[in-house]
Amino acid sequence: MSFTLPAIPFAPAALEPHIDAKTMEIHHGKHHQAYITNLNNAVAATPALQGQSLEDLLATISQHAPVVRNNAGGHWNHSFFWNLLSPTPTTPSAALSDAIASTFGSLEAFKKAFEKEGLARFGSGWVWLVKTPEGKLVITSTPNQDNPLMDSAPVKGTPILGNDVWEHAYYLHYQNRRADYLKAFWNVLNWHQASAHFGA
Ligand SMILES: [Fe+2]
Repeated sequence: MSFTLPAIPFAPAALEPHIDAKTMEIHHGKHHQAYITNLNNAVAATPALQGQSLEDLLATISQHAPVVRNNAGGHWNHSFFWNLLSPTPTTPSAALSDAIASTFGSLEAFKKAFEKEGLARFGSGWVWLVKTPEGKLVITSTPNQDNPLMDSAPVKGTPILGNDVWEHAYYLHYQNRRADYLKAFWNVLNWHQASAHFGA
């Protein structure tokens, strides 16, 4: 069994002007594919990893080599990310909308806090909205290709939505303006998918 690149269900230019076609093509076809290739190579070289699902690997990531951590994380995070993007506007479910409002004050306040967390992540990483095992919504960020499903994560839980703040996600169009990229994300976020992750 080997891991394979999932297709994106829209054209590379479909998210323009917020995310440009060239970035989508390179991000998906080169960066994501590289995580998958490296993960498959690591699994092929390590019999104990064979037959494990991606989620199994993440849940026990502290026991695995850095090459597994980086590439299993990279594969899961990008697969999650593509599904969170939509060329057409969407809105959160009533349940997610209510939970965000009661936790952060309002949707706008949540967006600002999420952008702030994404901007504060030094170097490469991800910013997440997570539902903790206690059912609370929390904004957190992780370095590199770590994520909240890893046993090593300081904040663990179910990712509701996440944004990739690696420069490869935005540099061609936004150059050093990560803040502008974080703001533009709201225009292409698939709230239907985020609501499904929330469970309502
Ligand atoms: Fe990425």
